[in-house]
Amino acid sequence: GGAGIVVPALSGRARATDPATGPGDVPQFQQAMPVPETLEPTFASGTTAYYSMTMKEVDSEILPGRLTRVRTFNGSFPGPVIKAVSGRRVVIRQTNHLTVPTSIHLHGAHVPQSSDGSPMDLIAAGGGTKTYTYPNSQPHANLWFHDHAHHHESETVYRGLTGLYLLSDDVEQNLDLPSGVYDVPIALRDARFDDSGQLAYTMNDPKRTVLLANGKAWPYFEVAARAYRFRLFNTSNMRFFVLKLSDGSSFHQIGTDGGLLEEPFETASLALSPGERADIVVDFSRYAAGTTLVLNNARPLRPDDPVDQLTKVLQFRVAGPVANSTLPATLRTLPPLGSATVNRSFELSMDETGVTQDAYINGRPYDMDRVDTEIEYGATEIWTVRNASTRLPHNFHLHLVQFRVLERDGRPVTSGPESGLKDTVALQPGETVKIQATFTGYEGTYVYHCHMIDHAAMGMMANFRVSRSRVR
Ligand code: C2O
Ligand code: CU
Ligand code: CU
Repeated sequence: GGAGIVVPALSGRARATDPATGPGDVPQFQQAMPVPETLEPTFASGTTAYYSMTMKEVDSEILPGRLTRVRTFNGSFPGPVIKAVSGRRVVIRQTNHLTVPTSIHLHGAHVPQSSDGSPMDLIAAGGGTKTYTYPNSQPHANLWFHDHAHHHESETVYRGLTGLYLLSDDVEQNLDLPSGVYDVPIALRDARFDDSGQLAYTMNDPKRTVLLANGKAWPYFEVAARAYRFRLFNTSNMRFFVLKLSDGSSFHQIGTDGGLLEEPFETASLALSPGERADIVVDFSRYAAGTTLVLNNARPLRPDDPVDQLTKVLQFRVAGPVANSTLPATLRTLPPLGSATVNRSFELSMDETGVTQDAYINGRPYDMDRVDTEIEYGATEIWTVRNASTRLPHNFHLHLVQFRVLERDGRPVTSGPESGLKDTVALQPGETVKIQATFTGYEGTYVYHCHMIDHAAMGMMANFRVSRSRVR
């Protein structure tokens, strides 16, 4: 655990890891947080934008003054941003110059199986290529892409192979939300460094105690005294965040995994499990120039986490000038729910002693050759998902569809952050959620899994097949 680690609260420095193996103190709020680079298409027609990406290792300055080897798309750490619009296709040619196979999954996207980046659909190491086609036949949403190659995804995602994909549409564009330089995507994650400043990786590692925002350890971000839209992505393998501003003030959550909420939700705290996204608006116009404010994380991953190190994520530095703005009172209308005809239950569990590295859904570890759930094309289903672990959180992510959260522990979800379109839902120990989805658009085999990626790699993943003629 955190024995022997003392963090002086006011020093502005925190010890990164175990003194015996870590790089020592990592200064906080010394590096500016960059905004991830937007990738330009190599060619664009009226209907399609073409991109080309090369997966490769590069060195990146994550810790001030040190270089860390990372796995990237096009050398970008944090990963690049693709800006897409609904109804216009994106085609991406991926070339893998890493030393491990990859499979690139667009998380949250409604895509044919051939472009889903499923765990077994690999791009060979050392120069293999694959072209993914994304129809973008869904409303606006903050999506992201990441490696999904079975048994490699946990390490490869951890070493950086992620990118952001901002899908927009008229509904979103017609709203008066902060835009341009006031609309900032932020990829959050944790990491552990060894004494040479390199990423240390072991499966299911509880000691990833350095927090990164857009690829920098504990950065600062200078803001004008006005409203900002922050699109937050939890790209961590395992870490759950509960984010709060250091002065306790509230902000508005305007969106979740599958796009905007129906109306802004005012809150002082935001929970984000691995894979989840949140769109928030923070209004800095109430702060005098020169004010500093910290985005804190109020949740340790495990009871024995060295909490002190993890309380800070990112510092905001307010500069002038002041500009006032208002948020639209309504944001969008969600698609109608429809009525479900099928009910299923799922139980997430694992060996909590840590003796084996085994994890299960309904008592079975992932088997690529087994179809666990047969779904009739077009069906609307209610899935009851329970976290059977007594100590560990999990979450539940479905490919292909966006779903709705109907209930959490028997309480209906009618407003707030989970009332929008979701593709990943958090489950604290012992919790149960009911979700509803309609399986339409494509036939094919897809996965559902815990998005604590190490748990998925350990077996907490299963296949579902959507087909018109049901085979048993
Ligand atoms: Cu974010 Cu199956 O993935
Ligand atoms: Cu996914
Ligand atoms: Cu899990």
